[in-house]
Amino acid sequence: VRILVVGATGTIGAAVVRSLETRHEVLAAGRSSGLRVDMSDRDSIASLYAHVGQVDAVVCTAGHAAFRPLLELADEDLRRSLDGKLMGQVNLVRLGADVLSDGGSFTLSSGLLSRQPLPGSTALSMVNAAIEGFVRAAALDLPRGLRVNAVSPSWVRETLAAMGRDPDPGVPAAAVAGSYVKCVEGDMTGQVLDVFTGAGDAD
Ligand SMILES: NC(=O)c1ccc[n+]([C@@H]2O[C@H](COP(=O)([O-])OP(=O)(O)OC[C@H]3O[C@@H](n4cnc5c(N)ncnc54)[C@H](OP(=O)(O)O)[C@@H]3O)[C@@H](O)[C@H]2O)c1
Repeated sequence: VRILVVGATGTIGAAVVRSLETRHEVLAAGRSSGLRVDMSDRDSIASLYAHVGQVDAVVCTAGHAAFRPLLELADEDLRRSLDGKLMGQVNLVRLGADVLSDGGSFTLSSGLLSRQPLPGSTALSMVNAAIEGFVRAAALDLPRGLRVNAVSPSWVRETLAAMGRDPDPGVPAAAVAGSYVKCVEGDMTGQVLDVFTGAGDAD
């Protein structure tokens, strides 16, 4: 199976690549290494797909959104959040539907803040919830047995450690990666997999 991973060098992306590359051909993409793509730029996504040709799965572990209190969010913060994590992933699906083989899959990233917000998470919570709504509905429209799902991680252990916070409540990146692998190798579609415990069970 030929799998394109956008965000392959990130905390979650690197763990996903490690999990997949033992059994599959993995094409790593990002802004600054591997195959180059800026997912906030539609033309850049189109160029990436033209370059790689047919793939069997696309995984996205990239996407930034602002973390700032509601009344401090500038227009630019909101625009970048929507163009990046939301429209970047939406366009990976819209533009990628033609290059996926029959029955192929898209696996996107949302996040627990969609349903468990924190002060300052408005932009990220909004974007994550939009991705989850997109996945549930887009699955109904995709042709040729194409599938689309999202993984919704809680805090990742390595991310908490990098922030200088207590890593213990976090889920190891390797466990989060297991949910992405389930989406790629399984037959589910229109699902959002919450990752609270590392078990990666779908709700
Ligand atoms: N880590 C957590 O605790 C956590 C929890 C819940 C949800 N999530 C979500 O999971 C996803 C991955 O998180 P992460 O912590 O693994 O992120 P990360 O460590 O910051 O890595 C992000 C990856 O995406 C690439 N990237 C960033 N912007 C890009 C763009 N515009 N176009 C293409 N590639 C881009 C980065 O490489 P370049 O800089 O080279 O492009 C990098 O490989 C994000 O959507 C995040 O919101 C993370």
